[in-house]
Amino acid sequence: MIKKLTFLLTLMLVVTGISAQQWNLMPMPKSIEAADGAYRIQSEGVTVTLQGNYHQRLPMNAAWFLTRLGKRTTIPMLPKQGKEIVVKVNRAGTVKLGENESYQLKVTPTEVTIEAETDLGAIYAMETLLQLVNRDAQGFYIPAVTIADSPRFPWRGLMIDAGRHFMPVDVIKRNIDAMAAVKLNVLHFHLTEDQGFRIECKTFPKLHQLGSNGEYYTQEQIKEIIAYANLRGIRVMPEFDMPGHTTAWMPGAPEIASAPGPYEIEKRFGVFGATMNPTSEKTYKFLDKFFKEMAALFPDEYMHIGGDENNGEQWNANPAIQKFMKEKGIKDNHQLQAHFNKRLLKILQKHKKKMMGWDEIFQPDLPQSIVIHSWRGRQYMDEAAQKGYQSVLSNGYYIDLSFNARKHYMVDPLPDTTHLTAEQQKRILGGEAPMWAELVTLENVESRIWPRTAAIAERLWSPNPAAPIDDMYRRLMVVSQRLEETGSRHMANREPMMRRLAGTSNIQPLMLLTNAAEPIEGYKRHGSQKYTTYHPLSRFVDVTMPDAPDAIEFSLLLNRFIESKSSDTYVELSKMLTRWEMNHQQFAVIAKENPLLTEVEPLSINLAMLAATTNVMLKQLYYGKMLTKDDAAKMERVIIELAKPVAEMNLPLADDAKRILELVTDSTNTLPSTEE
Ligand code: ACM
Repeated sequence: MIKKLTFLLTLMLVVTGISAQQWNLMPMPKSIEAADGAYRIQSEGVTVTLQGNYHQRLPMNAAWFLTRLGKRTTIPMLPKQGKEIVVKVNRAGTVKLGENESYQLKVTPTEVTIEAETDLGAIYAMETLLQLVNRDAQGFYIPAVTIADSPRFPWRGLMIDAGRHFMPVDVIKRNIDAMAAVKLNVLHFHLTEDQGFRIECKTFPKLHQLGSNGEYYTQEQIKEIIAYANLRGIRVMPEFDMPGHTTAWMPGAPEIASAPGPYEIEKRFGVFGATMNPTSEKTYKFLDKFFKEMAALFPDEYMHIGGDENNGEQWNANPAIQKFMKEKGIKDNHQLQAHFNKRLLKILQKHKKKMMGWDEIFQPDLPQSIVIHSWRGRQYMDEAAQKGYQSVLSNGYYIDLSFNARKHYMVDPLPDTTHLTAEQQKRILGGEAPMWAELVTLENVESRIWPRTAAIAERLWSPNPAAPIDDMYRRLMVVSQRLEETGSRHMANREPMMRRLAGTSNIQPLMLLTNAAEPIEGYKRHGSQKYTTYHPLSRFVDVTMPDAPDAIEFSLLLNRFIESKSSDTYVELSKMLTRWEMNHQQFAVIAKENPLLTEVEPLSINLAMLAATTNVMLKQLYYGKMLTKDDAAKMERVIIELAKPVAEMNLPLADDAKRILELVTDSTNTLPSTEE
């Protein structure tokens, strides 16, 4: 009861804080109390003074903090000049699951003080501080505030699939920097797939030599990534997906396969037959040596062994495997995979690693030290927790599916409706956003990860219940800019892609269209054509982002308009619609005789027509003119037609058009309107 009350009080504080102050924080802290006044950043800048015992990552991050603050304010941050920001830390933190990440931050008009048990907490405090920095006509300031913060869940991850498309080291590092800015602490590195074996293996060099087309991380690069992540307080957990999803292992290691082959790296996407042979001692000898090497390379205590989507094709077709199953009384492929997992677990234990795997690995006779990674459904997570296993949620956080941030934000690892007992709830470690890479390359992967993953990060860090969706989006748009300060190219990479498509540097009309269009959701893109790793993914759809920024802005404004009917908001909305309406003329000039834009032209026309239609309805809403049911039905048919996907893209404006239509429909009147 007391816990509930504190919770509510915290929420009330947060809520009053938001309305009074419009905090631009993401994730929102556990508790935030606004005070009067502000700490002004003067022309002599600020300095950070570190006190106590800490790891070298603290001075590095203090410098990183000052660099970003300097860039934002354009003020040189000279050493030992300007006002002091005091950072007090008790001890050096260890980048491992469950480490203390809490901090306290106090800002008064004269002082900024950070206190934390470990440097990890202090680093997060500096990230919060950067998000707090605001500007007005006088310059930059930090509002006076007291924050006490700690994460709700200890496992807050982003998974990057470098198997399907290789992601160079600088892409990984940029994502690490962005992760730290929103307090994520696990980089789950999916390193092997049917389409690529992406890590240098010294024991079995044929694995990367024959399994990667030359695109793999050397061990030096892996060490560099781990060290870089450590400095940002982020764990790196590798995944070696097995026994399925292993086509790319087999050209270099056919002796561990369940069928003789020959094998080549897979170019298509889907679920394939190549599977390790769980009945052969050769497989385990091989994996023992493999994991010995990898365990020494990756310091994290967890090792992810995948375990998902084994279709059993090769096992069913192999008489020796069938014979083995009969002899051992193994009834089906699920049991055979459990047999494999048990052997694998022994190997990992020998090399001092804890095992994690996708929810298919769950089998009640595996020891409770393993972690279940729920992707097929949250029920697998709950079931694991009920049976004594720790688990991490990814179901609902699949950012490769191009759903809006709203959808992911609604997913909570421990919703209020949970049936888990307090004891079982403790086993829910947190969540991870998986960035599967069938349809992303190094050019657009960041635009699919950010800023949406910041909303997931808030889910995993901040107290439940979450903030209202509109406020989440408002903050997400600010965070998107803040992430650019860390070097993230989620917005920036779109421009060169667009120039390449346009064949000219005049991309303004394309930009406007991209900011209003989104890739179609779910697995629908795979339905429209058979993608392979040969596809360059450089079409217009690959430039668009889920949560199209202008469409979001329009939606948020519309919410405000519906509430207030204010003329300012009306004018603002109408201007946006007019801009979209007029854009097609300009677009058509660039698209003329440009075959790359032919498929996009109908989308540009649809946007213009949808905007024009919406503008008419908006005007009716503003002036209180209603449509008869019949006219509304006609209008709806028009909207539905204009909302149809074009070249694997959608126009989210259509949803807002439908909302407005509903508001201007006089459901009691079926007579045709006389005003036409
Ligand atoms: C998965 O998405 N196959 C884990």
